[in-house]
Amino acid sequence: MKQNIAPINREIVMRDDDFIVSKTSPKGLITYGNKIFIEFSGYTESELLGKQHNIVRHPDMPRAVFKLLWDTLNSGQEFNGYVKNLGKDGSFYWVFANVTPSYAADGTLLGYYSVRRKPKKEALHIMQNLYRDMLAAEQRTDTKNAIAASTQLLTDLLISKDVSYEKFILTL
Ligand SMILES: Cc1cc2nc3c(=O)[nH]c(=O)nc-3n(C[C@H](O)[C@H](O)[C@H](O)COP(=O)(O)O)c2cc1C
Repeated sequence: MKQNIAPINREIVMRDDDFIVSKTSPKGLITYGNKIFIEFSGYTESELLGKQHNIVRHPDMPRAVFKLLWDTLNSGQEFNGYVKNLGKDGSFYWVFANVTPSYAADGTLLGYYSVRRKPKKEALHIMQNLYRDMLAAEQRTDTKNAIAASTQLLTDLLISKDVSYEKFILTL
């Protein structure tokens, strides 16, 4: 079970050369975390291994972003996105994440792999505003329709810019 951690208004900022790396099983259980992941999350390696990756989920993140992540991974594609994460002490850290499925030679899914770097400041500004609106849309809609409501905001933005999600996120 994920413990409830009260978020605090303290940001930990990634350094230019940092990569936060983790791997999961096909079910999303953490099987590996590098030193920088351990540092930013605030957990020990043994606290992380075998846990669901939502151990660092921040309540400010819209659910629709994770639906997009899993839909993308389930279709065999890689996902890129900005994510606000929650540390063990309640602090937060923003990342730009690349998440990929790993397959064996025979096509069996082995698990997932994520590498995260420091997000660009200007991009973060845009994404913070978008996520704030998406979260608000989820909170004012009943649970069943919340993801659709916030996905609509993202879709509307992409349509207005005439770009795919991939292109939008990679050119921010
Ligand atoms: C390789 C990999 C890395 C992930 N990294 C994160 C992460 O850093 N932060 C996060 O909130 N979710 C991450 N997720 C998504 C979580 O598994 C989960 O879907 C998300 O936290 C939403 O949790 P919830 O469904 O309990 O709300 C990752 C998933 C995978 C497969």
